[in-house]
Parts: sequence; structure tokens; C-alpha cells
Amino acid sequence: MGNVFRELGNGGRIFKNEGAFAPDYIPQEIMEREKEVKELAFALRPISEKRRPQSIVVYGAPGTGKTCTVKHVLRELSDYTSRCFIVYLNCWNYPSRFSILSKIAEKVGIFVPRRGVAVDEVWAELVGVLKQTEKVPVIVLDEADVVAGDEQGIFYDLIRIKENEGIDVEVIAITNRGEMLAQLDTRIRSSLLQSFMEFKRYTPAELKEIVRGRAKLGLFPGAYSEEVIGVCSGFGAKNGGDARIALNLLWLAGRNAEKEGRNEIIVDDVETVKGGVLKSLKKEKIESLGELDRKIIKIIQEGGEGLKSGEIYGEIGKNERTVRLHLGKLESMGLIESVFSGKGGGRTRVFKIRR
Ligand SMILES: Nc1ncnc2c1ncn2[C@@H]1O[C@H](COP(=O)(O)OP(=O)(O)OP(=O)(O)O)[C@@H](O)[C@H]1O
Ligand SMILES: [Mg+2]
Repeated sequence: MGNVFRELGNGGRIFKNEGAFAPDYIPQEIMEREKEVKELAFALRPISEKRRPQSIVVYGAPGTGKTCTVKHVLRELSDYTSRCFIVYLNCWNYPSRFSILSKIAEKVGIFVPRRGVAVDEVWAELVGVLKQTEKVPVIVLDEADVVAGDEQGIFYDLIRIKENEGIDVEVIAITNRGEMLAQLDTRIRSSLLQSFMEFKRYTPAELKEIVRGRAKLGLFPGAYSEEVIGVCSGFGAKNGGDARIALNLLWLAGRNAEKEGRNEIIVDDVETVKGGVLKSLKKEKIESLGELDRKIIKIIQEGGEGLKSGEIYGEIGKNERTVRLHLGKLESMGLIESVFSGKGGGRTRVFKIRR
């Protein structure tokens, strides 16, 4: 019998660099966002000049390039000046005041045990170290809408560092729901999150440029056609002007072509994998979740037509505040949805899985 790998042969002539399609890949060149890149750079420039920088909220729909644009500009900033250090936090992983402060503290070399320390102790130690350094912390709170309820105390902690201690701090909050952060206390808005920057959904033409650019980086020249680029960007355009969807479609189409032993992606490949793209992005999201989040999803799933918040708290058996925090996070991820039911004072939220 022949060897199954020998019969399969080499990986084919589709992907020149498949890594260019990985979720955390940041391209050297951010396309169609020149204005936003400049605006961010303008807000950050004071850091290199020992002046006070302006904090920013970046908001917009999924896949509009918020994360990659911010990361790109910060990479350039670190390249340009040594007067800053960057703390990037995805609030899905750091949803609480304590975890965010601890992460910043760790970044400046403070050891923070998981338990047995109060937020204020971490804060005080952090202030002590920041006072000693010339460097400006640039704190990126990605998916910042996950920080809800009492956990928003983190914003006051940062204000105190800035105002009471006179330490320069740059905060960049990234969110899908700009209106959420706009509702914050005026003190937070006037002191910490002064300017708002919207990332609009990409137009079909912009998506085409982005997909074409990525194809050049990741695929062999003969492995795709303009038509394939058009279908992929069209699908992203139809699904919310979302570059992630368009790029994932091209990636999966490439894999499909490879599987079928062709050297070129054809429109049929794209059509074949279309249905799977949205599902696989959702699956990826769920896989990124922790145990408690998955448990909550499972309970809601089993609840079918909708579960009251109280029923969820009961089943989980953790304190209500924690569960509420996680429900907010899962909702902002688009995995579950909630409506209010009942009237007047007895109104309660009912949760179900978002299809
Ligand atoms: N202007 C662009 N040029 C090149 N690639 C882009 C551009 N915009 C988005 N992308 C790519 O599209 C994908 C999604 O972008 P990104 O993660 O920045 O979106 P986002 O706005 O942060 O979405 P979400 O709100 O879901 O977090 C990434 O792979 C990113 O590299
Ligand atoms: Mg993002």
C-alpha cells in the first residue's frame, strides 16, 4: 500500500503564507484607514514630547479594523519613542477592576498574587512605581464594554492616577457599543475618555482593497482571481461591512481548493465554504471562553425559548454580580440576547441564544 502522505503530496500552491490569515495577524499596512491612523497618531504624539496625551474611545461594528489599527499605531509609537510602555488588555480576559489593575501592575514588574490583596493595595503600589518612571503607560482596554457595573471603578482608579497623582496615563478604550461608554459618568468622560472616534463599516470597495491586499500577502499570485476577491469582499459587505468575515471566507476557500487538489481558488470553493464561515467565527468565539461562560451558554441553550436571569443565577450557584458580569460579556459578544419581560417593577431580563 502507498503512503497516504506521499499520495497527498505537498501542501499545494495555494498558500504562500497561511499565517497571514491567522486571527491575530497584524498586517504591516493598514488599508483604507489613513484618516483614523493619523487621528490616533495625533492624539498620541504628545507622549513623545513630554506633553499630556489625549485619551480616546474607538468604537464601531465588528470587523471594522479597530483592534488592528490601534495595534498598528502603537507598534509605530513604540518604534518612534521610548517614552511609553503599552499594556494591551482584551477585557474578555480581564473583565474586572482587580484583574485590569493587576495586569498593569505586572507589566511594571509588580508581583500581584491572585488572592488576598485588596484593589487599593495594588493601586498604591502601582502609583509608587509609575511615579518613579518617565514612561507613560498606554493602556488599551479592548472590548471595554465588557467592563460593567461596579467594575467600572477601574475608570476612577485611572482618573485618580492622573488627577490626584499627576501621572500621565493614556487610555484607549475600544468597543462595539460607543453609546455604552458615552453613557458613563461625566467625570469619566471629561477626564479620561475625552474624544470619540468612530470606525464606520467598510464599503464594498474598501473591503475589496483589504481582501486583495491580504491575498497578496498570503496566497501565491496564480492561486486566485479578481472574481474570487469580489465574491469574498461582497460577502463581507453583505454581513455588516466586516473585514474579518471577508478574509476568513478567502482563507477557508483556499483550504477547500487545497483539499480538492487544485492550484487555484475558484468561485465554487467560496460558495462551498460560505455557510461555514459565520459558524466557524462563532465557534472560535465560544472556544475563547472560560469555563463559567461556557456553563452559562449551556444552561441558556437548554432553556430554549428563554431563561430569566434569576433562573440562571440559581443554576450557576455563584454570586449574582459575577454572573451578571458574564451575561453582559456574552451579550456584547453577540452570543446571547436578552429582552425585558413583565411590567413595572417586576420587570426581569430573559436570555436566549442568539442565532
Ligand atoms: N484596514 C484594514 N487593513 C488590513 N486589514 C484589516 C483592515 N481592517 C481590518 N482588517 C483585518 O480584518 C480582521 C478584523 O479586524 P479587527 O480585528 O481589527 O476588527 P475589530 O474592529 O477590532 O472587530 P471586533 O469589534 O469584532 O473586535 C483582522 O484580521 C484585520 O487584520
Ligand atoms: Mg477588535
